[in-house]
Amino acid sequence: MSDSERILQLRDELHRHNHNYYVLNRPTISDREFDMLLKELEALETKHPELADPNSPTQRVGSDVSNDFQQIPHRYPMLSLGNTYNRADVREFYERVEGELGRGNFDVCCELKFDGLSLSLIYEKGRLVRALTRGDGTRGDDVTANVRTIRTIPLQLPEGAGYPDELEIRGEVLMPYAAFERINKEQEQAGKPLFANPRNAASGTLKNKDSRVVAHRGLDAYLYYIPSPVPQPSHYDALQQAREWGFQVSGHMKLVHTLDEIYAYIDHWDEARKELPFATDGIVLKVNDLRQQQALGYTAKSPRWAIAYKFPAERALTPLLEVTFQVGRTGAVTPVANMTPVHLAGTTVRRATLHNADYIRQLDLHEGDRVYVEKAGEIIPQVVGVDMSQRRSDTPIRFIDRCPECGAPLMRYEGEAATYCTNDSTCPPQIKGRIEHFISRDAMNIDSLGPETVAEYYANGIVRSITDLYTLRQRFAESTGFFGCTPEQEYLQRTFGGSRSVSGAKVLDSIDASKKVPFERVLFALGIRFVGKVVAKNLARHFRSIDTLMEAGTEQLCEAEGVGAVIAQSIVHYLHDDTNRRTIADLRAAGLQMQIEDIATLSQSLAGKNIVISGTFQHHTRQEYQALIEAHGGKNVSSISKNTTFILAGEAMGPSKLEKARSLGIPMLTEDDFLALIAPEQ
Ligand code: IVH
Repeated sequence: MSDSERILQLRDELHRHNHNYYVLNRPTISDREFDMLLKELEALETKHPELADPNSPTQRVGSDVSNDFQQIPHRYPMLSLGNTYNRADVREFYERVEGELGRGNFDVCCELKFDGLSLSLIYEKGRLVRALTRGDGTRGDDVTANVRTIRTIPLQLPEGAGYPDELEIRGEVLMPYAAFERINKEQEQAGKPLFANPRNAASGTLKNKDSRVVAHRGLDAYLYYIPSPVPQPSHYDALQQAREWGFQVSGHMKLVHTLDEIYAYIDHWDEARKELPFATDGIVLKVNDLRQQQALGYTAKSPRWAIAYKFPAERALTPLLEVTFQVGRTGAVTPVANMTPVHLAGTTVRRATLHNADYIRQLDLHEGDRVYVEKAGEIIPQVVGVDMSQRRSDTPIRFIDRCPECGAPLMRYEGEAATYCTNDSTCPPQIKGRIEHFISRDAMNIDSLGPETVAEYYANGIVRSITDLYTLRQRFAESTGFFGCTPEQEYLQRTFGGSRSVSGAKVLDSIDASKKVPFERVLFALGIRFVGKVVAKNLARHFRSIDTLMEAGTEQLCEAEGVGAVIAQSIVHYLHDDTNRRTIADLRAAGLQMQIEDIATLSQSLAGKNIVISGTFQHHTRQEYQALIEAHGGKNVSSISKNTTFILAGEAMGPSKLEKARSLGIPMLTEDDFLALIAPEQ
């Protein structure tokens, strides 16, 4: 057998074993045997790169090529379903259908409503060619590379199984509870933000730029709708057939006839869903016969032959142990109920938010109360009520009046529900929060630092303010790490000079690189209350430098776009504070951009040039590069053609663009090449 024949044979065999294992739960070979076949295929594919196939089972692990997520039109619009929340609405739907089709003349297919995000898969001659998200319903994101890593989605349907040459099948991508908990544990350990719920985790994962990350996350998918023509007469039959073709179709679908049977299905699954390994948020009712579906038709937004019934939120009752208070990065203090652990909607819940002081008062919460908890799509569930019949104590829960972190007095602003710590200069979570905001991507983009490192540097006393970041290199150079040094100096040596020097050097480099970040982002990075990205940009454009901004009074500030009295006051308050003025002076001395570049004086070195921007960049955002190209007289174009002068190529350019650029012989400039090209002549 030739290598190419063996490759095809192995792919075929491995697709089958994948399906047996992931969809049918019935493996016919051991994991070891599977791995050996996979290794053999990998070796042959490495030997024959010309035989590469994106649908090969070896591609399930993802690749390091960054995803670009092109927007692609849907062949059939992706509609949503009308929602109902009670039996009366279900009856109304049933009776409307009955009115149109005649009593007793139709079957209804009852299904679970999976709580994930919808996905459309397109197969041509049995090969997966494209996977699109819902997007706006008419165009979706092309997430094919990521979807290829989902093991329950077949990449190649078995030969001769009788599927149409053009098949579009839709379903839901979801993250099972077990994977969700594992991923959040990993996020926590890495100091990264947690996903609020499995649906957010699934959606964040599907849009991840790195398909290797997606492969690791453990997404799953159930298919429930075929919009393209099928030979079967009914929805139910079509899906049973799809199961034969290798798709994962829920085994919990049920064909029923009467309204009572529908209610029974709802009642059964409202309880039984608690045992499912993934989240469901309701049930879906579909008129089964495809011709009857046609007859009922569609409204602009949803089919008239289907409806969703949403389950009421799950609720649990558990004793309150203690109320603790958390201080956030803005200084807002949130009360948290710590409770006896209780199982709720697939996870164990120990803590629930109590929102604010008024909320505690409205609940009339007392020590030792038994509280009702609900999940409201957040990581931390909320207390929604108290079981008054089991009250044991006369002592109401009181909100604190001093900050649990720094002991400073707390206060409330007029018209705001939150209570704040008044000490924004030395309260630890507020300082850490400010540093985290300062280094974040849209601000100074010091991406080698994360919340965990910030916490570590803070605890060790080497970074206690944003200005400390810019003295790190100097302090490290001055420290020797020999006996007799201060603990800080020893720490600096260990972190930046010792075995961790690679990541240490990266930190120092990215801090240096941040000095090139344009003024508007520096302004945003300062974290002035109410000054978000857009306001910062408007202020930078209007006032052009920090000096003019510092001189402006509230009236002048209000002349800038998007700035009203509240924002203006907040800016004045910030800029007149001595500590903040010192911070700004120190940042200026460190070399940060405190004014905008004067575009009028820039060269016209890119005049007549058509430039494509692709990939991701270190020094500037895409928008900034776009502005730079235009400022230098060039034209930023979106697609590569023979008229393209060059490509400003960042990291991880999309594979199709790369290929096109190569085939047309278009030069590719790195970020540094480009910056050198437009740099003023010395
Ligand atoms: S059928 C034209 N079936 O619910 C009908 N949708 O609110 C297409 N969903 O966008 C949808 N489980 O993301 C259908 N068994 C199921 C479903 C389901 C979950 C989602 C889907 C849809 C949304 C509608």
